[in-house]
Amino acid sequence: MSNVLQGRHIAVGVGGGIAAYKAGDLVRELRRQGAVVRVAMTKGAQEFITPLTMQSLSGAPVFTEPFDPNQDEQFGHLHLARWAHAFVIAPATADLIARIHAGMGNDAVTTSLLAFRGPVLLAPAMNTAMWDNEQTQANVRALLAVPRFRMVGPGVGPLADGDVGAGRLSELPDLIAATAKLFEQGPLTGRKVLITAGPTRESMDPVRFISNPSTGKMGLAMAATARALGAEVTVILGPSEARRPDGVTIVDITTADQMLAEVMSRVEQTDFFVASAAVSDWKAQTISTTKVKKGDEPQTVTLVRTPDVLLTASTKVHSNPKRPVLVGFAAETHDVIAYARGKLAKKKLDLVVANDVSAAGAGFAVDTNAVTMVAADGSQVNAQGSKADVARKVWERILSI
Ligand code: CTP
Repeated sequence: MSNVLQGRHIAVGVGGGIAAYKAGDLVRELRRQGAVVRVAMTKGAQEFITPLTMQSLSGAPVFTEPFDPNQDEQFGHLHLARWAHAFVIAPATADLIARIHAGMGNDAVTTSLLAFRGPVLLAPAMNTAMWDNEQTQANVRALLAVPRFRMVGPGVGPLADGDVGAGRLSELPDLIAATAKLFEQGPLTGRKVLITAGPTRESMDPVRFISNPSTGKMGLAMAATARALGAEVTVILGPSEARRPDGVTIVDITTADQMLAEVMSRVEQTDFFVASAAVSDWKAQTISTTKVKKGDEPQTVTLVRTPDVLLTASTKVHSNPKRPVLVGFAAETHDVIAYARGKLAKKKLDLVVANDVSAAGAGFAVDTNAVTMVAADGSQVNAQGSKADVARKVWERILSI
């Protein structure tokens, strides 16, 4: 039994063909191998197998009606796309393949898939003549030209309608192996990555807080890249409006203390800990439960330090024989490299990614960044570009340590 599927979120999109009944076996086996499965069905699929059957087998409500307000409330129309780490279309009928290729979103399967950016496995099943049809073949070729689209089958043999030829849904072990393969894609496969991102927000009273302009984009770019390299990624994220990458687990927090608690419960089980959050350095010593009324007098607020999440985590794991690789970020306005070296030593890190937030096109709330990576051996490597480009270069550097 492969443990590649353990804990993976897999969306199974069921098309309307006679092989739809086999999607139930697929769902059951994926779950047996540890995956968490949600099902979306086309209208045609529901003619062959009921949503209730798929609900029982998947252990979760089934998405059938994107225009049903009740389902939209329950799923949010993009929920499945955000939740899923991978999408398996089984059976992928000729019609469903055509609609996917055309970029349509006119049922529960295609709307979800249209919003999904991760790996997709097509498991075609249809009559041989439909499979051989030039248009079907052209659609399949076009989809498979996109690297994140893969295909398994169709198998050759006797078909439900009496024909013999290509068009059978692949056998269950082949479907499972091809699904698992979607996750075997990079140097971080089987590795866990924990990332802090965004600002923290420290309340002073119910309507006021201390925070900073971090958007969380750099940390989320680090998360998306780690995911693309195959890692299982968890982000402990402060208040952030940034787009959340697919296939990444996000734990929302508000304060530094909450961030610390979420990190400490995970850091010993992770292979890489990347602290990119702009943790607020201070919090109010006491938080007023009622709104503080303003007067004309100067107001004094006593601020106390928040915990240093990275330092606390680093101290906890440092003597562990299998400690995670520890990466910090440093945002500076001057003496960038000297401060980066100081942080590396003080927090016992493997790498510090330093950026000069006063430079144009770097730092908070912009989509580009320019950084210098300082490693424990003293070496320095520069990287610049979009936050995604920089994230890729930072992971390259981390992997070379
Ligand atoms: N960090 C953290 N918890 C804090 C403060 C910082 O985890 N309370 C992490 C950040 O995520 C980042 C690194 O530590 O990875 C930044 O180090 P820090 O010493 O906070 O940098 P500055 O605040 O810039 O330091 P200083 O004010 O001393 O210049």
